[in-house]
Amino acid sequence: MVSILFVCLGNICRSPMAEAVFRHYVIEEGLEHEIHIDSAGTGDWHIGEPPHQGTMLKLKEYGISSQGIHARQVKKGDFDQFQWIIGMDTSNVENLHKIAQTTHSHVYPFIHFIPGTTYEGVPDPWYTGNFQETYDLVQQGCKNLLDEIIAKHGLSKK
Ligand code: 4NP
Repeated sequence: MVSILFVCLGNICRSPMAEAVFRHYVIEEGLEHEIHIDSAGTGDWHIGEPPHQGTMLKLKEYGISSQGIHARQVKKGDFDQFQWIIGMDTSNVENLHKIAQTTHSHVYPFIHFIPGTTYEGVPDPWYTGNFQETYDLVQQGCKNLLDEIIAKHGLSKK
């Protein structure tokens, strides 16, 4: 089983959006029994909450389910459990390294999966209010990330 964890600050805007979009593509490819997907936040303010209304509305607009997603905080065990840990922006990646207390080789910035972009990270709609901008980046990155995971782990598309 391949496992992937998306991480942002609050786990209510960007990482649950990435979790939902990535799962949507995984199901489209019939790989839901091969890939385990989750998201978490480095902060603890929203534990147990569903995604932000703006994230839910954007997902709904694109026909993507956000069912069953609730915020949780990153824990040390995540570094052993997940093979792919994706920080939505550079500060998330820095915080992940602090929590892990070492530079973990399987922590990647989400933006790494959008080659040629001028963005340094996925903008936080909690502050920008622009859920479309965030969705557009999440959608592009998730597609490329899934292709990379399929290739690296020798999975086959539908
Ligand atoms: P997220 O956005 O990291 O994309 O979930 C945020 C959500 C909540 C807060 C900050 C960022 N907050 O400060 O409560």
